[in-house]
Amino acid sequence: MSAQAICRLSDLKEKDARGYSLVLDDGSEIQLIVVREGHAVYVYRNRCPHTGVNLEWQPDQFFDLGGAFLQCATHGALFRPEDGYCVRGPCAGDSLEFVPVWVIEGQVVTIL
Ligand code: FES
Repeated sequence: MSAQAICRLSDLKEKDARGYSLVLDDGSEIQLIVVREGHAVYVYRNRCPHTGVNLEWQPDQFFDLGGAFLQCATHGALFRPEDGYCVRGPCAGDSLEFVPVWVIEGQVVTIL
């Protein structure tokens, strides 16, 4: 395990979600969604609990049209940005996998 910077907090707008990938120590790659709402930052694995696919339909397109939920493009599941809980769709009641992060000197950092 090692600490890795994912991005700078300032890379995201006040309400935003972006996709990033990290290479782990074993050489494998994981996809992440970084969600910013004001000063709050939430990070999840970019993997829908329904089938395991990435959520976005275009790069960095994670929010639904209303901007309230993260949405899976494949079958439309809606997830709360603040905890990744699925409120509607085929995986309702499941959650995106949470990734703990810290903001250190403006960098969003995780340990994986
Ligand atoms: S793959 Fe995400 S809702 Fe079906």
